Amino acid sequence: MPIGPAQVDVWPNNVILQHIDPLVCVAIFPDNDRILSLLEQPLLDAEAAFRAQDSEQGRWIGGGGAKIRDFGSWQCPTITLLNERVKEAFRRITGATTAHIDDVWANVSRKGEYIGPHGHRRTEVSAVYHLLPPEPGDREQFNGALGISDPRVQRCCPTKQGLVTSQVYPPLDPGTLVLFPSFVTHYVTPHMGDGHRISIAWNIDRNMIPGRPDDESLLPGQGG
Ligand SMILES: [Fe+2]
Repeated sequence: MPIGPAQVDVWPNNVILQHIDPLVCVAIFPDNDRILSLLEQPLLDAEAAFRAQDSEQGRWIGGGGAKIRDFGSWQCPTITLLNERVKEAFRRITGATTAHIDDVWANVSRKGEYIGPHGHRRTEVSAVYHLLPPEPGDREQFNGALGISDPRVQRCCPTKQGLVTSQVYPPLDPGTLVLFPSFVTHYVTPHMGDGHRISIAWNIDRNMIPGRPDDESLLPGQGG
């Protein structure tokens, strides 16, 4: 499909969907630079609008930075490409013939911002795309990293099944797409870089789900 002046494959031949745990899959896309060049400035503009509207004072730093909730409604081929990639990954992982995006949003994080542990309650699969991850030094230290800590994920329980004694930090390279069941508890550690960190998140299911996708799981002190 056309992205800017180039034709881009929804699923390039050399991209492998790899299980790093029975419940966690990763694919790394080689054309992230092109995607970033088209989405970064619009997302920074949306971030500025979010932060101007949503007073920084009193906003929970653990809520995950600026959330661009209307990202999915932007009329933009690059977002269509990302949506199609995530749906294709969903079909490959689950064997389903259908894929419906229940919710999609972008996160723009600044220094200190993080996301507390949570799952997503409505869908089969959740996905995160690292459009602009932290700098390599921070990635090595798991700063601004997507982490998984869940008793149903084998790699979190290396000594005894169901006993979480470890965390899983999937690759954080630019262009990495991470997928896991929506029930899996995940979080993002504090972003420590001076620049911005951008990720895109989806909740996907094989069926259309009635009702609103609003997820209360990121509110402090509430379940979800
Ligand atoms: Fe999440």
